[in-house]
Order: sequence, then C-alpha cells, then structure tokens
Amino acid sequence: MNDTSTAALRLGDRNGLPDDIAFLRANYPRGDWRTHANFGRLADFWLQVHASLRHEGSEVSRIMHAFRERQLGGEQFQRAFVPRLNGFLQHLDQHHRIEDDAYFPKFRQLDQRLVTGFDLLESDHALIHHQLVTTVEHARGLLSALSSPGDAARRAADAYTGEAETLLDLLLKHLADEEDLVIPAMLHHGERPLI
Ligand SMILES: [Fe+2]
Ligand SMILES: [Fe+2]
Repeated sequence: MNDTSTAALRLGDRNGLPDDIAFLRANYPRGDWRTHANFGRLADFWLQVHASLRHEGSEVSRIMHAFRERQLGGEQFQRAFVPRLNGFLQHLDQHHRIEDDAYFPKFRQLDQRLVTGFDLLESDHALIHHQLVTTVEHARGLLSALSSPGDAARRAADAYTGEAETLLDLLLKHLADEEDLVIPAMLHHGERPLI
C-alpha cells in the first residue's frame, strides 16, 4: 500500500474496510455467522466482549448526559460515573492488549492475506489508546472542577464529552471492522488454530 491509501485507511477517516482487506466478508455475511457450522465458542466470546464494551461505553455516556441535563447533582454524578468509566476503560485496554499480544499474531500466521488487515487493526488500537488517555485527562479535569465555583464543571463536562464522543466513535468503527475480519476468518479456517 502507498502512503496515500494507508492514510485513507486510518480509523478516523475510513468508512469500513475495503473488500481487498476484508476479503472473506462477502463469503460470510454477518446475518449467517451464528448458524455456520464453524461458529464456535471463541467467535461467540469475541462478539460478547464487543457487545459488552459497546454497552459499557453507552452507560458512561448516559450518566454524563444525565449530569449535563441536571438530572444528577455533582456527588451523585461522581458516584455513578467514576466506577463505570474506570471499568469501561480497563476492560477496553485489557481487550486490546490480549488481541495485540495473543490473538492477532495467530491470525497473521493463519493466512498471509490477513496480515495487512491485522496490522491496520493494531494501528487502530494505538489511535484508540491515545484518545483514551486524552479522555482520562479530561475526566480528571472534570472531577476536580466539580468542587469549583461558577460554571467550571459545566465547561469541563462539555470538554470531556467532546473527547469521550470521539473515543466512542472510533471504538464503534473499530469493533465493527474487526468483526468483519475476525469472524469470517474463524468460520473459514475453524477456531482450532487460534486457541
Ligand atoms: Fe480490537
Ligand atoms: Fe476486539
């Protein structure tokens, strides 16, 4: 790939994976995954983890929305927000580490044609991690602004929300693209070489 096409495939800029990277996708349509003979425990677990990350991310957004709509006071907000944000970001970080260290190398070994796609997913993780760090910094700023006078907390909540929305947008795109590579590859090759 040349530099221009690589740049266009950055997570923030692309709209799904191109067919030459997700080359098994057309043969294994999403709606048929669960009834395929090779759909096994690992594929099911992978999709469950992704569903749980989507859910945790939306729960954090819901609490922030309630605070910005003044349905939650500062203390109530903090009690609901801190454990959920921590849980979500820890689970996300752990999931990406396991993928980078344990699973992605196995997919690359499974089929040379998968290498480009898994390199791209790994670079998605780096971008998401960078945005995660920025989001945490803004969350800390918000928590310390909760006890400040005036509208400091409101402004900090707005700033946090902008960064958190970027993080969630990136994550949702990444999860969908990753599923388009991972699940068809499992159905095609079976799960045994990956376990
Ligand atoms: Fe991932
Ligand atoms: Fe994943």
